[in-house]
Amino acid sequence: MRVLGIETSCDESAVALVEDGRTIRSNLLASQAHLHEKFGGVVPEVASRAHVENINPLITQALVDAGMWMSDVEAVAVTIGPGLVGALLVGIAAAKALSLALGVPFIGVNHLEGHLYANVLERGPIEDPYVAFLVSGGHTMLVHVPKPFSYEPLGQTLDDAAGEAFDKVARLLDLGFPGGPALDRLASTGDRAAIRFPRAATDRGYDFSLSGVKTAVVRYIRAEHAQGREPKIEDLAASFQEAVVEVQVDKTIAAAKDKGVKTIVLGGGVVANTRLRKLMSERTAAEGLELLIPSPELCTDNAAMIACAGFYRLMRGERTDLSIGASPSLPL
Ligand code: KG4
Ligand code: ZN
Repeated sequence: MRVLGIETSCDESAVALVEDGRTIRSNLLASQAHLHEKFGGVVPEVASRAHVENINPLITQALVDAGMWMSDVEAVAVTIGPGLVGALLVGIAAAKALSLALGVPFIGVNHLEGHLYANVLERGPIEDPYVAFLVSGGHTMLVHVPKPFSYEPLGQTLDDAAGEAFDKVARLLDLGFPGGPALDRLASTGDRAAIRFPRAATDRGYDFSLSGVKTAVVRYIRAEHAQGREPKIEDLAASFQEAVVEVQVDKTIAAAKDKGVKTIVLGGGVVANTRLRKLMSERTAAEGLELLIPSPELCTDNAAMIACAGFYRLMRGERTDLSIGASPSLPL
């Protein structure tokens, strides 16, 4: 089954054509980072307008790249939430129009489920049960998945999402927007033991908090300046990253042990982080746990993962009614 996937939940307009949930025929992305950079964050109204401009050319190009006609599309999958309401609506409207015009099934997909299915896209269905760690610009959450499409939240962030914290600290260091990838690159040249930033254990439960470490970074920079010194930003980046990643890895492994599962599955933009990938791989191997991580390019927002998740829902006979709207805070 050839599924056209559409993703417009935040600041990337994305369209992909995926066959049978596994074979990517085309996977296109129109990044809007340059439009939001001067504001230091995503401006919802700017994002919606850019999606409107991008979406039709992207759909056409996705078909051209796949070597297909519109009539070859057998189903349409689209992100319905969580995300920015105005941005989501652009993708949803395009997907509904296509489904109606072509007379093919329409399926709404949860963005976070899409991030998990980046793994399925690359290696096929995951043997459940497992614990999923979803970490992106908008979310940080641990979820127990006892069976397909059944999600039991274990914990989440009490303040910033990890990607958001990476972006904010990167901004403090003048690394541009979004700063996560730049901070990751800079950290690779620094000493992660140089500065001991706080590790927020939030009473050892499965919730996360990053406001403490963020404030500690600000205080450290101020203190250095007060002493007439320039902080060594590569050490600062590496030490901050270590404080964030260490807690993430500890809690994810603790959750897997608690739930008695043998598999950990990662998803979301922050999973592109090299230190998170490395530490999680080392620690899960030492614990005898299996770890599934998407390739870095499929960790960040894309439409192929949405087409894949949509395909597996369609295979269960699911369809979404065309009356559905956008759900900015859709739970998993
Ligand atoms: O999943 P995603 O593309 O969009 C959301 O659903 O939010 O995640 C984007 C987030 C941004 O905050 C970005 O800075 C962060 O993921 N990110 C990274 C890295 N690559 C992307 N954070 C740290 N290290 C990276 N290598
Ligand atoms: Zn995302």
